[in-house]
Amino acid sequence: MDRWSNRFLLVLAVAGGAIGIGNFLRFPTLFAQYGGLFLIPYLLSFCVLGLPLMFTEWILGAMARDVKMNSLASFLEVYHKNRVLKYFGIAALSACLIISGYYMYIESWILGYGWISATGGFKNMEASAMGDFLSSYMTMGDGVCDILCIVCLIITLFLNYYFTAKGIAKGIATLIKVSMPLLMIIALIMLVKVFFTPGSFEGIKYMFQPRASLWDTKMWIDAASQMFFSLSVGFTATFTYVTYADKNLDISNQGLMASFMNVGMEVLIASFIAIPVSYIAFGADKIQDVVKGSSIAFGMVSMPSIFNNIPGGQFWSFLWFFLLFIAALTSSLSIVQPSASFFCNKFKKSKVWGSVMSFLVCLIIIVPSVLCAVGIDEFDFWANSFIVPLGALFLIVIVYAIGKEKCWVCFENNSTSKLNDFMKFNISWATPFFLIVVVVLYIFNYGKEIITCANYEPEKIPQVILCRGLMLAIVLIYALIIHFKKIKPEE
Ligand code: PHE
Repeated sequence: MDRWSNRFLLVLAVAGGAIGIGNFLRFPTLFAQYGGLFLIPYLLSFCVLGLPLMFTEWILGAMARDVKMNSLASFLEVYHKNRVLKYFGIAALSACLIISGYYMYIESWILGYGWISATGGFKNMEASAMGDFLSSYMTMGDGVCDILCIVCLIITLFLNYYFTAKGIAKGIATLIKVSMPLLMIIALIMLVKVFFTPGSFEGIKYMFQPRASLWDTKMWIDAASQMFFSLSVGFTATFTYVTYADKNLDISNQGLMASFMNVGMEVLIASFIAIPVSYIAFGADKIQDVVKGSSIAFGMVSMPSIFNNIPGGQFWSFLWFFLLFIAALTSSLSIVQPSASFFCNKFKKSKVWGSVMSFLVCLIIIVPSVLCAVGIDEFDFWANSFIVPLGALFLIVIVYAIGKEKCWVCFENNSTSKLNDFMKFNISWATPFFLIVVVVLYIFNYGKEIITCANYEPEKIPQVILCRGLMLAIVLIYALIIHFKKIKPEE
């Protein structure tokens, strides 16, 4: 049986899944926009959404481990008599597949940028030229870096396939053992470098100044969605990793440790690298224009242009992309795994076969992400705004269906401490309430605009419809497999 060889590896793998582009790019841009007050909704979302959902994934994961299942849908099929419950696994599976498709493509850009940095391709490039370069890099078929872009995509897909196909002990654990310490060391080196750069303390002071009011609802929605994305809760990425634990689980310690590693990485390390550096380069007047743009542009245009202007810039720029690439690779693996495990469980076939199948289905997302201008935005929007909150809500429904008491007992049997009443209250009431409010608010505010494609120019609408159709196809593929392919009872 494929297993994590020790407890700490599981913590590192869960933290590695959570620590990704969101920590290094998305969080610093939000923090710089809203200033110090952003930490209030952020930490509240951590208590009410992040931690409760994290613990829920660990609890359900421990139950699935006991029945030797590694995917939510297959666990529910063998664990629960209710025939409908297993379909609740579809949301997480679809979210993982959709996000992993475009996430791996973005990951491949980072690889390409790392290569260009290392070979000195960005030397003397002005910030404005860097912006144009990014748009050409992202546009396939215009002759600029097309080959590099394709080669990097193939390498990224291969790496993700390779580690998933090797399995937990021989693949992901082997990578995590090396990549996580490396990631921390590189992040610390960059942090020290920033600390000793003149002007960094001004930048840190600027970071904590409040720039929004606590009544700004957008700040609250941004904080909540950052929490989902960053901790990767609701996708069953953590659930899937936990199902490969041995008997020796300690949910309270391991869950907390992984969650705090993620929060610590974005609040204490990533922000302290990215914001002071941007402040020094752009000054108080221009920094807001920079952080209000897309977080991808922040990481791939602003950061390298800052490095261009410091001594040894080529090296620092390369280190930055290398750091991002490691973070992105461990994250994408964590969302490729649920689907691969699903195929293995359902068809009782090898890890290689499960990985091949899940990559084949994933092509439905990868190809339009590469070729279609609206692809990434559409996939990102639907997966993160609807499917993930829905998947998270389903986790709570599953807790109710299984029985709350049973879940608390599972926590206690697999922990050194008890689940406190505050957390029980959150999982049972506060988290689902918050989730329902977020989904309803979204539908209420943006529903019509989304359905009528109001934000798109008319000529792009066929592409939008195609992308939506493809996402629906993925949901259907999983629904049909769950429905028709039964797991044999004796197995
Ligand atoms: N948590 C990852 C990040 O912060 C993003 C991610 C989301 C990865 C969902 C996997 C699944 O970048």
